[in-house]
Amino acid sequence: MNQSVLSGATEDQFQLATYKKMPIAAERGEGVWIYTSEGEQYLDLYGGHAVAGTGHCHPHVVKAIREQAGNLIFYSNLVYSSARARAAEKLVSIAPAELTKTFFCNSGTEANENAMRMARMFTGREKIITFTGGFHGRTADAISATFLGKYREIGKPNVPGHLEAEFGNIESVRELADDNVAAIMLEPIQSMAGINMAQPDFYRALRTLCDERGIVLIYDEVQTGVGRTGQWFFAGSEAGDGVVPDIVTLAKALGSGVPVGACLVTEKISSRIKENDLGTTFGGGMLAMAAVTATLEAIENDGMLENVRRVEAYLRRRLREVRGVVAVHGLGFLLGIEFEENAAAVHKRLLDRKIITGTSSNPKVLRLLPPLCLTEAHVDEFVLAADEHG
Ligand SMILES: Cc1ncc(COP(=O)(O)O)c(C=O)c1O
Repeated sequence: MNQSVLSGATEDQFQLATYKKMPIAAERGEGVWIYTSEGEQYLDLYGGHAVAGTGHCHPHVVKAIREQAGNLIFYSNLVYSSARARAAEKLVSIAPAELTKTFFCNSGTEANENAMRMARMFTGREKIITFTGGFHGRTADAISATFLGKYREIGKPNVPGHLEAEFGNIESVRELADDNVAAIMLEPIQSMAGINMAQPDFYRALRTLCDERGIVLIYDEVQTGVGRTGQWFFAGSEAGDGVVPDIVTLAKALGSGVPVGACLVTEKISSRIKENDLGTTFGGGMLAMAAVTATLEAIENDGMLENVRRVEAYLRRRLREVRGVVAVHGLGFLLGIEFEENAAAVHKRLLDRKIITGTSSNPKVLRLLPPLCLTEAHVDEFVLAADEHG
């Protein structure tokens, strides 16, 4: 029996069966490649669920983690740390100018919980508006904000005060935005729903509505942040009409795989947050902070934002040749390829060709969330495999 089969059997025996897994055991990674213990090589267009932004085991990130692990793995927020100082300064330096403070935590759902808490504290109000199709995480408040499939059902009893609006429809938001609404929170590009984007004027209208009614605007950039769209953030980008929200939440690619989440916050909100209002043991730990700084440096040093924009354009051009492709949704390396046939079948065939992709809750949409270092040559490989089976 080979090692992958053995690992699979052991995991299945000792782990809760909460995931539908692909039949591969990933033992090593390098750039856009994942290797099994049998030496099989997979082209990773899924990035471990959008986490491997810098690619697998980027040398600059590995070096920083190794060095930090030898110095100090962790101490809590009760002391200062040069690793934390560097990460916070670097993150703020690449963010839109309005976002001047960070709060570090450990995951996307935790970042969203803290963002909603800050909004309630800031406004003294209770309700949160989110959107049909948005996904915000699996802890109590975040899952209650998730109007997608069965998630709210799984999270019952739900936290009260969560309201559902229609993504892209500002009237549906206006109707709900009464004087007990603390925040409007959205994935600016809905990923799990099958890669949905709104028109730029929708984001502008949300900003105006929030300003008029004293509501906090939160962008959940757990997927769109840290370079995935070809800009550092969706916040402030042309696709979103330059709109900057009051809070941006991040996770996934922020630590290249070392678990870390963050909230980026405006001066207006942060000036009202006091000692003990928020907290987390592991948030801001040195190992994660070293990973954050090195991740942002690697993206910058390797020109990955420009790479995403160039290779996205190439991929879109090449996809025109692929039979069975109906449309390409999304931005940068957060792409949804809509097929005539079911995406699950395409996903399986590509996996047989040793290419890892993702599905979504839209049965026709195949999702690509590749490392930001993907090149034209990798695209050629993908297009060949996708077309052969088109
Ligand atoms: C947009 C978005 N927000 C929040 C989350 C939750 O992040 P985490 O799994 O790190 O808690 C996810 C996870 O997929 C996500 O895609």
